[in-house]
Amino acid sequence: MASSSSFFFVLFFLLVSALFLETTALPELPNLTTLSFEEGYTQLFGDSNLMLHRDGMAVHLSLDQRTGAGFASQDLYLHGVFSASIKLPSDYAAGVVVAFYMSNGDVFEKTHDELDFEFLGNIRGREWRVQTNVYGNGSTAVGREERYGLWFDPTEDYHRYSILWSNRRIIFYIDNIPIREVVRSQAMGGDFPSKPMSLYATIWDGSNWATSGGRYKVNYKFAPYVAEFADLVLHGCAVDPSDRRRACQASDAELYDAITMSADQRTTMETLRKKHMTYSYCHDRIRYPAPPPECVLGPEAESFLASGEAKFNYRRRRSKHYGRSSVDAVLLA
Ligand SMILES: *[C@@H]1O[C@H](CO)[C@@H](O)[C@H](O)[C@H]1NC(C)=O
Ligand SMILES: *[C@@H]1O[C@H](CO)[C@@H](O)[C@H](O)[C@H]1NC(C)=O
Repeated sequence: MASSSSFFFVLFFLLVSALFLETTALPELPNLTTLSFEEGYTQLFGDSNLMLHRDGMAVHLSLDQRTGAGFASQDLYLHGVFSASIKLPSDYAAGVVVAFYMSNGDVFEKTHDELDFEFLGNIRGREWRVQTNVYGNGSTAVGREERYGLWFDPTEDYHRYSILWSNRRIIFYIDNIPIREVVRSQAMGGDFPSKPMSLYATIWDGSNWATSGGRYKVNYKFAPYVAEFADLVLHGCAVDPSDRRRACQASDAELYDAITMSADQRTTMETLRKKHMTYSYCHDRIRYPAPPPECVLGPEAESFLASGEAKFNYRRRRSKHYGRSSVDAVLLA
């Protein structure tokens, strides 16, 4: 009797965990092949501040007084799933910025597209914050920032950060849980990224804006600051036809277009956003008296609209480190 009830208990537990796993996995994605650094990437800057580990399957980028560091994908991609497991520098990290993003700013200077995860360091004892952003066709005048607190310590372990970009939508995931979706709409026009982009990972000194709008600078007494990247995934349509690894096939585009969120994933996303999102441009009536057209005010909107104000601080930033030109709106923490 006892053993059969525990059997059913275990069965029930397995069913529930299978359900949970299913709802948190990227739906319908085959085989996210991870690449070694040599197979898919190339160093951008930072000489010896980029170090390969585990036979090139992990990359450490460090920031010290001399320089930050960065790498980029060898190819440009039109749509796909782009992902890395990242472990952020611990301890005092004010002013330190780690970015994992897609951009084509070096190819299309005036009409660039961009999809960002940006990690903003903090003073000791205060948590890293994560910002996502979307630019399309040079739409740098319209910032589409969102900012979140994390529900884990991103300096303790690796966590997976992923971007799905298809013809139809963009989804940002943390540990395979969607945290943001941008559905392409007619009204968005060229503001929806639509040209091939490269994938980038960088660490750099954001002293003049990253922490409390520049109040806290990078303190090199605590250097080097090391960000670790692993499980690098480039599952996309490489646009270079000479690409040996992965030609762009029609079925790929269909595959990416077919990726959506299950009802459960959507519920999880909404719960997370309600709890952990600290800023969204969609709720910022000071910057956007009328929200940009793609904004769908989810359940989290109420509390934002009730609390009202948002303090933004614009800085035009052209990073000397990687030639990226964009306007970043930075929330004063
Ligand atoms: C995943 O990719 C590997 C290598 O390309 C292949 O051998 C394997 O069959 C694939 N698995 C699935 C489930 O597609
Ligand atoms: C992108 O911007 C350029 C220059 O402003 C414009 O000519 C082009 O039509 C835009 N593309 C889209 C898709 O809106």
